[in-house]
Amino acid sequence: MHFPAYRPRRLREKEALRSLIRETRVTAADLVMPCFVVHGEGVKREIASMPGNFHFSIDELIKEAAELKALGVKAILLFGLPAGKDSMASEAYAEDGIIQLAVRRLKEKCPEILVITDVCLCEYMDHGHCGVVRQGRILNDESLELLARTALSHAVAGADMIAPSDMMDGRVKAIRDTLDQAGYTHLPIMSYSAKYASSFYGPFRDAASSAPSFGDRRSYQMDPANSDEAMREVRLDIEEGADIVMIKPALAYLDIIYRVKKEFGYPVAAYNVSGEFSMLKAGAEREWIDESASVLEILTSIKRAGADIIITYFAKEAAKSLLKEDKKRW
Ligand code: PBG
Repeated sequence: MHFPAYRPRRLREKEALRSLIRETRVTAADLVMPCFVVHGEGVKREIASMPGNFHFSIDELIKEAAELKALGVKAILLFGLPAGKDSMASEAYAEDGIIQLAVRRLKEKCPEILVITDVCLCEYMDHGHCGVVRQGRILNDESLELLARTALSHAVAGADMIAPSDMMDGRVKAIRDTLDQAGYTHLPIMSYSAKYASSFYGPFRDAASSAPSFGDRRSYQMDPANSDEAMREVRLDIEEGADIVMIKPALAYLDIIYRVKKEFGYPVAAYNVSGEFSMLKAGAEREWIDESASVLEILTSIKRAGADIIITYFAKEAAKSLLKEDKKRW
């Protein structure tokens, strides 16, 4: 008997061979870059907790979109910082709100880039919660109308896809109905279906100044301990009309990504969130980890788990590393 008969190392000796049997490949086309847009002109302000990410005014955002496109990143996810906040999130659905203005200009100047808009109220509410608040409670059904209005205003501005992130029950249906009635039956919804009440959103809340002024988000976002519940959330969103389902965060939830892909076979997006970004950045700044190699490894793991789409603050840098990597290997 020849032992071992099967030697896995045979296929590992040469890069050309490794490359032939590689099961998972991340490309720039898998990635979505989140971008923060602010009022003003000529603004490109680095976000302290998220090095390499910026608050862009619309003119600067257009340049950024063109750079992303040149690197092969075809989609951005937009977050807005309004001029003012109130208890009805009125700038979330204002015709001249920051997102509405940005989408209009982006689609005019850089029409090829796919513009996805995050639909939520927290950045626009004076209390920082994702829904309408009365007597300390976050109201579900009262919030749906505002969310649907926000989504419609993004559609009217020209958004290519709507991404509700609030976690109110029934919001996908409310948004789908509103879009359909207004003639936007063609516009897809990428729903943040399983969004966990995670401690990894910290740097984002600094960047978007959207931290809740009281309490936390555990009455609407999911308990990190639950997996079956994520399947119920995903099922509901699909029944309500979601075209793409999202799991968020990604790294501590790879099992959820895997299950959702396996059980539903729908297009799956994974959001590699701000805290996941910043902790790697911080480690890399201290030269404890090799940034570009570990970024590609992490993105590969998310795709290997089952994600078709990865939303990541590393999108631009990863696209650059991928180009370099290709050259280096040959
Ligand atoms: C808005 C929203 C949040 C994120 C995306 N959309 C913040 C939150 O739920 O508190 C987090 C993104 C990130 O951390 O990168 N609801």
